[in-house]
Amino acid sequence: MDANWMKLEFPSESVNVQFARTTVAIFASQLDFTLEEIEEIKVAVSEAVSNSVIHGYSASHGNVIMKVKYTPTQFTVSVEDFGRGISDIVQAQESGYTTIPEERMGIGLYFIQEYMDEVSLHSEVGKGTKIVMVKTVKPIQG
Ligand SMILES: Nc1ncnc2c1ncn2[C@@H]1O[C@H](COP(=O)(O)OP(=O)(O)OP(=O)(O)O)[C@@H](O)[C@H]1O
Ligand SMILES: [Mg+2]
Repeated sequence: MDANWMKLEFPSESVNVQFARTTVAIFASQLDFTLEEIEEIKVAVSEAVSNSVIHGYSASHGNVIMKVKYTPTQFTVSVEDFGRGISDIVQAQESGYTTIPEERMGIGLYFIQEYMDEVSLHSEVGKGTKIVMVKTVKPIQG
């Protein structure tokens, strides 16, 4: 298949972090990713969905939308919430920066940058956050 997509919407329950992580891996397995690449996509997605659950909605509840699509050259996943939003997205992406230092390490967004080829973070305080992550599909070695 040349191109495909899917969209998943679920409530911000922590059990859905694992659900999103597994679902994206099954979808990505339609492509010729290595097991290591699939693992990287799984980590990136679980970090992004965790962030929506833990930070976006924190004590409140809301929905998370995960969209996944691919072309012959790019696998793209976006994770969107309609929660609190981020006031400084540059600072948020610094390794070790967290607004919950007593509980978190502040490395989720850093790992997403490491594991995916292109990452863009969009956020508006009080409206929500969307992260778009792209992994390049490498041609099969002859
Ligand atoms: N979806 C989001 N909504 C609101 N704030 C967010 C969101 N994602 C990230 N942030 C903010 O960016 C900071 C850094 O995120 P990052 O994932 O790197 O670290 P963390 O979640 O705090 O810790 P860790 O990922 O190591 O558990 C968070 O502490 C939080 O303040
Ligand atoms: Mg995080």
